[in-house]
Amino acid sequence: MSQFELDPTATSTPPEEIARALADPGFGRYFTDHMASATYTPDAGWHRLVIEQTKPFEMHPSAGVLHYGQEIFEGLKAYRRADDSVWLFRPRKNAVRFAASAERLSMAPLPPDLFVDAVTSLVDLDRAWVPAPAKEQSLYIRPFEIASETFLGVRESHEYKFTVIASPVGPYYPDPVWLWATPTFTRAASGGTGAAKCGGNYAASLIAAGEAKQHACDQVLWLDGAEHRWVEECGTMNILFITRDGELITPDLRGTILDGVTRDSLLKLAPHHGLRPVERQIGIHEVATRIASGEICEVLACGTAAVVVPVLGIRRPGATLDAHDITLPVADATPGPKTMAMRGHLLDIQYGRADDPFGWTVRV
Ligand code: COI
Repeated sequence: MSQFELDPTATSTPPEEIARALADPGFGRYFTDHMASATYTPDAGWHRLVIEQTKPFEMHPSAGVLHYGQEIFEGLKAYRRADDSVWLFRPRKNAVRFAASAERLSMAPLPPDLFVDAVTSLVDLDRAWVPAPAKEQSLYIRPFEIASETFLGVRESHEYKFTVIASPVGPYYPDPVWLWATPTFTRAASGGTGAAKCGGNYAASLIAAGEAKQHACDQVLWLDGAEHRWVEECGTMNILFITRDGELITPDLRGTILDGVTRDSLLKLAPHHGLRPVERQIGIHEVATRIASGEICEVLACGTAAVVVPVLGIRRPGATLDAHDITLPVADATPGPKTMAMRGHLLDIQYGRADDPFGWTVRV
């Protein structure tokens, strides 16, 4: 039984219009009819729990989120299976991370049960918007929380708004990617907000994504903020390396890297693909040397929106300012077999085509 009051819209989108949106959803262009929301105040706790028509917010121009950036978000997906049932993938892991992000940003943490309730109830009501399993389409769910108090001082807000919206989507990166190891910008510093999923991290990343484009790359590869040496993650995704001797290496979580749900899932699937999961610091020098020698034979990036994306190569600046970029194609710059096998396995679990021995999928 949901704790959210249902207040369905009287003017839901006609089925033909939903079908047109689902025919080619892109990413984040269409939104479902409803949104879930809740309000927090210190006296009442989380209250006004409602699922109602998706509509613009009204808030005072002084609201904390507009000035000091107290904002956090999550991303998870609902999948339609061949038998028409609809399933979520590891929603509780997102819920727990959401509460941790709230703590880091001095915001009111939402109890994980309430998070899962909001997501499940919204998807249930808007299930007509969950695309058919073809073409890797799904319903992307975006829970977020903002500081909504009317007040201008710099302190934590005394009022928060939690909202969940949903959008039918296709693949975020339809093609494999090249990464640019930026020499100019860093994403996170020790003690900073790198492990939190907050809007500010993404705002600060956009300039580096632009730099990546100037170097003919699709996304940025972040190195650590202190030494500019250790690989951390890439724009919108975690990163992993497969070695010829059977390791699946990814940077360990040391407070500056997002604890990705897909990252964790791949580490757990690794042994099913003959790979040993290894979480450790890995330097860009080691990456460059071992790609060049062929010891690193596949590189992949992953995230909820992106799923699993083969990385065809990494570019980094030459040794001097006017030197050409150094291009490091991985193997022969084609998607690697282990990457594609793990990608397929994960999607098969998500769409119910393969066993789910981990109990990751939850029926709506
Ligand atoms: C996700 O993968 O869910 C993300 O949040 C990445 C991006 C769409 C911002």
